[in-house]
Amino acid sequence: MAYILAPSILGADFGRLGEEVEAVAEAGAEYIHLDVMDGAFVPSISFGMPVIQSLRSRTDKVFDVHMMVEEPGRYVGDMKKAGADLICIHAEACCHLDRTLHQIKEAGCMAGVALNPATPVNVLEYILPEVDMVLIMSVNPGFGGQKFIPYAVEKIKKVRQMAMEKGLNIDIQVDGGVTPDNADELLRVGANILVAGSAVFRGDARANVKKFLDIFKNFSQNA
Ligand code: DX5
Ligand code: ZN
Repeated sequence: MAYILAPSILGADFGRLGEEVEAVAEAGAEYIHLDVMDGAFVPSISFGMPVIQSLRSRTDKVFDVHMMVEEPGRYVGDMKKAGADLICIHAEACCHLDRTLHQIKEAGCMAGVALNPATPVNVLEYILPEVDMVLIMSVNPGFGGQKFIPYAVEKIKKVRQMAMEKGLNIDIQVDGGVTPDNADELLRVGANILVAGSAVFRGDARANVKKFLDIFKNFSQNA
């Protein structure tokens, strides 16, 4: 299993976004996590296709687009064109989740499904074989810098178990309040992609990326 750090640019300095993305990519982050917010599914508004498209020329790392948007199916084609490699949609935001996931795959992107903290994991029962990744939110989406909600740990465990029972080797991503202090526990319970905004971009981003990569290395060596 690959262990991946996905720095969320929501924690970056938007005035120097290009350099911030290049810095974390050079330091070894494999994914760039792009939080798209519509002011309806979540209270805040962040950025959309033009920003993603401008960043595309800065790195060839995986562009992991987290759509905090109502009915995200409306933007799948545009996101692909802007440079998305992975499009993750919220189960709560899609009336026809199965259809939207297939739309993403037909566009040639990896498909992820995200669950808000209060959404039970059993909504994944039938669509788990259709997805490349499950995102367990460990904060209520909408803002960076919030505190990790502890029961997310239980949900990660359950999803990993569900995937194992179905013989599926999917990625499990966790997003919100992830730091070098809780990273090891998250890997132990079954997550393999960690999203981190403030824990990467507050202070020295390169050094912070390295902290996470060292945790991954130790974890793999002891696994
Ligand atoms: C929250 C976003 C996150 C956020 C994480 O709605 O989906 O990706 O940027 O930020 P931190 O790591 O600061 O909790
Ligand atoms: Zn996110």
